[in-house]
Amino acid sequence: MTASIKTLPASDVLDTLANAPDDVTTTILDPWYNKGVGGYREDYNDWLGDIVAAAARISQHVFVWGFPEIVAHQVTRIPAGFKLSAWLTWYYKNCPSVIRGWRSAQNACLHLSADGAKIYPEHFLNPSQLERWESGKMRFVPGPPTVLEVPLNVGFVGKDEQTGHPAQKPLSVIKPLILMTTKENDLVMDPMCGSGTTGAACLQLNRRAMLCDSAEQWIDVTQQRIRRCYLGIDRAMTA
Ligand SMILES: C[S@@+](CC[C@H](N)C(=O)[O-])C[C@H]1O[C@@H](n2cnc3c(N)ncnc32)[C@H](O)[C@@H]1O
Repeated sequence: MTASIKTLPASDVLDTLANAPDDVTTTILDPWYNKGVGGYREDYNDWLGDIVAAAARISQHVFVWGFPEIVAHQVTRIPAGFKLSAWLTWYYKNCPSVIRGWRSAQNACLHLSADGAKIYPEHFLNPSQLERWESGKMRFVPGPPTVLEVPLNVGFVGKDEQTGHPAQKPLSVIKPLILMTTKENDLVMDPMCGSGTTGAACLQLNRRAMLCDSAEQWIDVTQQRIRRCYLGIDRAMTA
């Protein structure tokens, strides 16, 4: 593995984006969700809209994670020069039942892309499909589905990945975003990186990553995780 993963000192997302380098291809935004862990803010839609706009100024692709009813508000405020490429759904049926009523089983992820930005559905082809595509024998490249069915990392599920972060995403829901929008050595920015899942995914896929979070605690967890990956002793990376 040769990818470089850089972890910045703890900082607010807007500062990180304002000081970003000029060669970011893809930015992944996975903020707290305005309910539960992370609390509630009245101005959430405007706050997130400003973050999306700042991410769009520095990257070709922006992914915005959240519960569907929360990210839906961003669909009406897509930055100029960008379009909604896809509304992705992460479906997990193993959410522990903690409340009376509907049990949450999905997250949404908006894929916003700049006009003319490149995508790489060919990165999802198997070797024989790739051979046919490269020899010009395949008219259409079948991309991956917009619904990612991946279990939540809870209990014994995803044990090797778990870091203790309360909203850690599985590697399997971050890797498709990176594969679809970047090629090897491209730079991926995650300014609210939590446990560093984007960094671990970039290491596996040989992409560069720049990671930050406002909380020192999660920067430390991210650095330890990335160090384990580099040393080849992270069990989720060696499985
Ligand atoms: C949903 S979690 C990200 C989880 C991450 N994708 C993972 O897989 O571990 C949201 C993260 O955003 C961070 N955060 C919240 N507000 C922030 C802000 N204003 N600036 C930077 N980071 C922030 C939190 O500390 C938290 O770790």
